[in-house]
Amino acid sequence: MQFDLFDAGANTILGAESYAEFKEKLQDSGCDKCALHAGRTNIVVDRGNPEAHIMTIGEGPGENEDKQALAFVGRAGKLFDKIMDAVGIDTNRTMLIANVVKCRPPENRSPRAEEAAECIPYLQRQIELVKPKVVLLLGATALKHMDKSKTSFQMSDEAGKFFTLPDYPGIQFMVLYHPAALLYNAKLKPAMWEHVRRLRRYLEENGLYKKARAS
Ligand code: URA
Repeated sequence: MQFDLFDAGANTILGAESYAEFKEKLQDSGCDKCALHAGRTNIVVDRGNPEAHIMTIGEGPGENEDKQALAFVGRAGKLFDKIMDAVGIDTNRTMLIANVVKCRPPENRSPRAEEAAECIPYLQRQIELVKPKVVLLLGATALKHMDKSKTSFQMSDEAGKFFTLPDYPGIQFMVLYHPAALLYNAKLKPAMWEHVRRLRRYLEENGLYKKARAS
């Protein structure tokens, strides 16, 4: 990971050698690298188990997440928990959930390019420390910031697909609809079910399903 030589605060966080150290330093950092810091209550680092084989990346904290300092605990998060539970995945025990940005965007808008650019090194370090085997990208924001080649796409073409990225060897990425999209458009639900069944098959075929259930 490349550090910005002049950003001592961020370097201390990025230099953490364990996940617990990274999380504590980031939560306590008072980070003000982008404008989102002005409206936040908490820096939301994650929810779940940093020892898990599956990592999930969403967009950014909403109101509930900002208050509770936990990712995906609002309506979309509860729906995601239900969907994962239906295929035998416990989001607290067998997954770590993080976001592209760690501070709540106002009115729950998507993060701006410059906000995401400041925050992505934290996400990259999270991935390095967790070493997941599978990373689920929830929605267009997660996809476009993790795969920079995706500048223009339709989620209907991408959801359900697996791919790899040269910068993340050994990780299987999968794109899923963001659960908030399902709350607004119930017509997406049958496709989401098909995609999560595909995920479960992948985990089973790669010896990850038992670990996903029991870790
Ligand atoms: N939506 C997200 O993308 N992330 C959260 O943490 C909550 C809602």
